Order: sequence, then C-alpha cells, then structure tokens
Amino acid sequence: MRTIMVMNSKGGSGKTTIATNLAGHYASVNTNVVLKDYDPQGSSSEWLKQRPYALPKIVDLPAYKSPSMRVTRSWQMRLPAHTERLIIDTPAGVELPRFMSIVRAVDRIIIPVSPSPIDIRATVMFIHALKTQLKLNPCKAEVGIVVNRSDINSSAYHSLINLLDNLDLAYVATLSQNENYIRAAERGVSLLELDHPMVERDKQEWRPLIQWLDGDSATPEQNTNDKQRIFSSKNHAIAS
Ligand SMILES: Nc1ncnc2c1ncn2[C@@H]1O[C@H](COP(=O)(O)OP(=O)(O)O)[C@@H](O)[C@H]1O
Ligand SMILES: [Mg+2]
Repeated sequence: MRTIMVMNSKGGSGKTTIATNLAGHYASVNTNVVLKDYDPQGSSSEWLKQRPYALPKIVDLPAYKSPSMRVTRSWQMRLPAHTERLIIDTPAGVELPRFMSIVRAVDRIIIPVSPSPIDIRATVMFIHALKTQLKLNPCKAEVGIVVNRSDINSSAYHSLINLLDNLDLAYVATLSQNENYIRAAERGVSLLELDHPMVERDKQEWRPLIQWLDGDSATPEQNTNDKQRIFSSKNHAIAS
C-alpha cells in the first residue's frame, strides 16, 4: 500500500482538488483506493457523496468525524483489506506537530501552491515549518510541490518558479487553472477519469505527478518540463 498526503496550511491551494482527482484516477485504473479526510469541512467526503454509483468505487474515511458511541477510533479508522492507495486530505491551518504521528506512515507528501504572492509567502512559511518537523521526526516521506492553478504565460508563474529554484525547492508538476476542475468537482468526478478532448491537456499535466507517486525511485523520469524535480525528506532540499 502507498500512502499519499496532500498538505499545505494555506486554504484554497488545491489540496482537495488534488486529493479527489487522484482518488478518481486510481479508482479508474482498478486500484483499491481510500480517501481519508481530516478537514472538518469534509470537502473530500462531500465530493464522494456526489459521485455517481456507476463510477468505480472509492472508500470514504471521514477522519474529521468523531467515532460514534459504539465504535473505537481505531475501528472507525480501519482500512479495508487490499487497500492499495490511501489518499489523505488535510485542513487549512494544519497543526503540524499534531500531524507528525500521521505523517510517519506517509510515503509521499504533495504540497500544492498557487502562483500568487500571498499563497507563495504562506507556503514558504509552511515548508520551513515542515522542514523543522521532519528534522525532529525523521520519516520516509518524500515531498513534492505541485504548482496549481497556473497560467504558464503569467509573470506570477515565472516568479514562483524562480523562487522555488532560488530556495532550492523543487516541484513535481504544474496544473493549469481550468474551470473543468470546478465542474467535475460538483459531480464527484475526477478529470483524470474523463475521456474527452477538452481535458486531454489537463490529464497530460498530471502524468509526472502520478509517475512520481507510483515510482519506486526518488527521481522521476524527465518530462516535458526539465525543471520539474522532486525533493525528499532524505535529501538536502527539505532536510537542511
Ligand atoms: N487547477 C484548478 N483550476 C480551477 N479551479 C481550481 C483548480 N484547483 C482548485 N480549484 C478551485 O479552487 C478552489 C479551492 O480549491 P481546493 O482544492 O478546495 O483547495 P483547498 O482544499 O486547499 O482549500 C475550489 O473551488 C477548486 O474547485
Ligand atoms: Mg480542502
């Protein structure tokens, strides 16, 4: 089983969008997938409620809910047998020290960031806090940044890429701003499971991310953007 956590203390950066689209992707390729939602707003769980019955199943694990009187927390949180991918959505303003016991079991952490000055500032602070926690609590997780809602022709996008380079922070993928994400989200559908020319370019953009998530090695194959790299809790980019 591989555990993937989507995290950024900044709200609106794309955590739920990435968690739900990934869950839909794995379901559509016949992988047993569980979507675990720690956000009290329950957006990932709500997305699942909209999901048409005819689509491949994704198991809902609403971790933000307290267990009912009759069950223990560990019973509430148990994973179905044969789970192959566990995708964890997290809330804005996540309390990192409290989350580190959960992070210990995670294989990949995705940090989405939008190319806007406010988001970038908040995300850089979050990354510094995560670095500190990973030093205190070393774990196996590899960390990758996803630039979300980007317009690669905008100056904000290029400022973000320069900043990531200057800070020695690498990124795995760039996802465009696209209304299709909002429309698909309303229906409990992932863009990655749609077969339509309108979403082909978006699906291509997810490839390096999925390759990194599924790969054994810390180094994804080079892709269309040769600047795309990952960083790991084991290498200098995050641990220093
Ligand atoms: N690439 C994108 N293109 C268009 N809209 C997006 C994209 N990513 C996220 N959104 C929209 O932005 C809003 C915030 O995204 P969300 O995934 O809920 O962020 P978070 O979970 O980090 O708070 C949502 O309305 C979502 O549909
Ligand atoms: Mg969310």
